Amino acid sequence: MPDTQDLRTFWENRYATMTTPTNGDPTGVLKRHSDGRSPGRALDIGCARGDDALWLAGLGWRVTGVDVSQTALDIAQGRAEAAGLADRVTFERHTMPESFPTGSFDLVSVVFFHSPMAFDRARVLELAARATAPGGLLIVAGHNTAPSWRQPESHDHPAFPTPEEDRAAVARAGQDWRDIEVGLSKREVTGPEGQRDIAADSHVILERMK
Ligand SMILES: C[S@@+](CC[C@H](N)C(=O)[O-])C[C@H]1O[C@@H](n2cnc3c(N)ncnc32)[C@H](O)[C@@H]1O
Repeated sequence: MPDTQDLRTFWENRYATMTTPTNGDPTGVLKRHSDGRSPGRALDIGCARGDDALWLAGLGWRVTGVDVSQTALDIAQGRAEAAGLADRVTFERHTMPESFPTGSFDLVSVVFFHSPMAFDRARVLELAARATAPGGLLIVAGHNTAPSWRQPESHDHPAFPTPEEDRAAVARAGQDWRDIEVGLSKREVTGPEGQRDIAADSHVILERMK
C-alpha cells in the first residue's frame, strides 16, 4: 500500500522550499480543449499553486481546485483573493483517492498529475470519471516520457502511464464516453541549460455522453 503520510510530507516540503514563482499560464491541453465551452462547474485535480484553476475562474467557471499540499493551496487562495476571483474558486485539501471532493462537474481536469510517491492513480481517474457530469469534458494529460536531462531522477519515479492505461482506468467507472483524443502528443522542450529534446505527452480527452 502507498504510504499517504510520505506523499503528504513530500509535497509539503516541495512547495515549502520552492523559490521559483509559478508562471501563471494555463496548461496548453486544457486551454485547447476547453476553448468554446460555456463556463459551468470545473474540478482541477492536482491544482498545485492554482494556475489552471484561476485561469478557468477568470473565464467565468466555478472552480474547485484540489491538492494534497496545504502550502500550495494557501498560495492559490492568496492569488485568487489578489485577482478578485475568490468568490468563484474554492480550494480543498484531499489526499486522493482516499479522500475525494463531492459534486458533479462540467469539466474535470487531471493534468500532469504525477508524483514520485506512489498512489492509486487508476482509482483517482475512476473517481474523476464519476465526478464528470453527463455532457461534461474529462481531460487527462501528462508526461509519457521524460526529457533526457531528467532521466537520472526518474529512476525513482513510478512509470508514466500510457494513454491506454489511463483510458482503461476511466472505463472502470462504467459510463458512456465519446473519445475526442486518446494517444500521444509530441512537443519540443527546452531544459534548464538550453538543451532541446522532444517529449511525449499522453492525452485522454473524453466527453461523457448525455
Ligand atoms: C506535478 S504537479 C502538477 C500540478 C499541475 N496540475 C500542473 O500541471 O502544473 C502534481 C500535483 O499533484 C499533487 N498531488 C500528487 N499526488 C497527489 C494525491 N495523491 N492527492 C492529491 N494531490 C496530489 C501535488 O501536490 C502537486 O501539486
